[in-house]
Amino acid sequence: MNPAAAADPSALAQLARASRYLPGGVCASARRNDAIGHPFFVSRGDGPWLYDLQGRAFVDMSTSHGASLLGHNHPRIKAAVQQALDMGIVCSAETVHHARLAERVTELVPCADMVRFGGSGTETVMHGLRLARCATGREKLVKFEGHFHGYSDALNYSVMPPLAQAGPAHTPTPYAESSGVPANTRDHVIVLPFNDPHALEAAFAAHGGEIAALLLEPINYDQGCVMPQPGFLELCRQLCDRHGSVLFFDEVLTAFRVGPGSAQQALGVTPDLCVLGKAFGAGMPISALAGRRALMEHLQPLGSCQMSGTFLAHPTAVLAALAALEEYSSPGFYERLDAACADFYAGFASLIERSGVTLRLQHAGPRFGLYFGVAGPIQEYRKAASKNHDAERCFVRGCYERGVYFQPAAHHGFSAVHGKRELDQALDAIAGALADVQAAGLAS
Ligand SMILES: Cc1ncc(COP(=O)(O)O)c(C=O)c1O
Repeated sequence: MNPAAAADPSALAQLARASRYLPGGVCASARRNDAIGHPFFVSRGDGPWLYDLQGRAFVDMSTSHGASLLGHNHPRIKAAVQQALDMGIVCSAETVHHARLAERVTELVPCADMVRFGGSGTETVMHGLRLARCATGREKLVKFEGHFHGYSDALNYSVMPPLAQAGPAHTPTPYAESSGVPANTRDHVIVLPFNDPHALEAAFAAHGGEIAALLLEPINYDQGCVMPQPGFLELCRQLCDRHGSVLFFDEVLTAFRVGPGSAQQALGVTPDLCVLGKAFGAGMPISALAGRRALMEHLQPLGSCQMSGTFLAHPTAVLAALAALEEYSSPGFYERLDAACADFYAGFASLIERSGVTLRLQHAGPRFGLYFGVAGPIQEYRKAASKNHDAERCFVRGCYERGVYFQPAAHHGFSAVHGKRELDQALDAIAGALADVQAAGLAS
């Protein structure tokens, strides 16, 4: 137990101070934390550990929403950033490291013939959609309900629509996740249920010639962890080929997580275009738009599609990403990660079994989704959305009180530097938190 953690006066005081200057006291809305009553204010991180304002240590089961696949304070990443600092914090210029990083991506990721680096996943997926529109001369986008592709106006549709406003299950109504989005962006979006081959075929039959891109998370971590059903990605590939649409994988979250070639290699379906983010920079802000040469050559200055920016591919992040790719390609990296996953998930499953709490655990690599109150496999958004949020909050709070940090988000996970000690500590906290859920009458 970490009893002092439950009511943290220093965090509440910091929230009050921060709220004077930052809307809601945070710099990103996803950093709110309803389970513990304040954002998780961190003083530092080291390996699998995060330290709060009072210096208390927590096993980190969020890992920066998936960015810190090498944990925090990794010596190789720090050395890479230091190298960029020593070069003079130059930005807005090309270096030899930029082309070397692009070359490395093309060696690892199946669809990558050429690469353009961006900052956040949001901006790079936005640019990828523009590129697909430019290359096809079409405007419509097909996306799946429950898949998240960042916050740009064209793409922030039907990620977590309230079920009452989500429309028919087989032909969902596009739901804007933010106010302020121009209504006409909706005209270009077709939302479909994930893993529903008939709905997908029907949409292409009706609109094939208008569809610029079919965009998806190959593993839908943004609903916890929803895997594509056998044959579904292959069908996506076939329909795009038949109708001349761009198959576009959003690998912001899956990049380098389930193998060195990302989900497209692990699942055996190669898209035309993808975005790599989060773990790509191992905590530094960088993403990559990568794809087939014929598509990528539409980017200016070769073609007519604009994608530029002062801070694109900042050397601190480029060198960090190069170092991260060296780590991910080192012998045994994924084998060790897989072994840790096998132990952790087996332990977690047996705790769920013994607790009597109805909780579905789905995982791929070191990232997983928890669905309280849901029985049986989850293959699409609407079943995922039926989970019990009160039970989830109770669980997150219970873990926090025991020194293990889960962000109340759809997906959770650990890093390659979480060892047996930390994962066992996480399992102990999970056992206690499941007992809390049971005691609160939220077990079913
Ligand atoms: C699949 C996916 N796409 C895009 C994004 C947006 O990336 P960023 O937060 O770097 O803007 C995220 C972030 O969570 C994501 O999970």
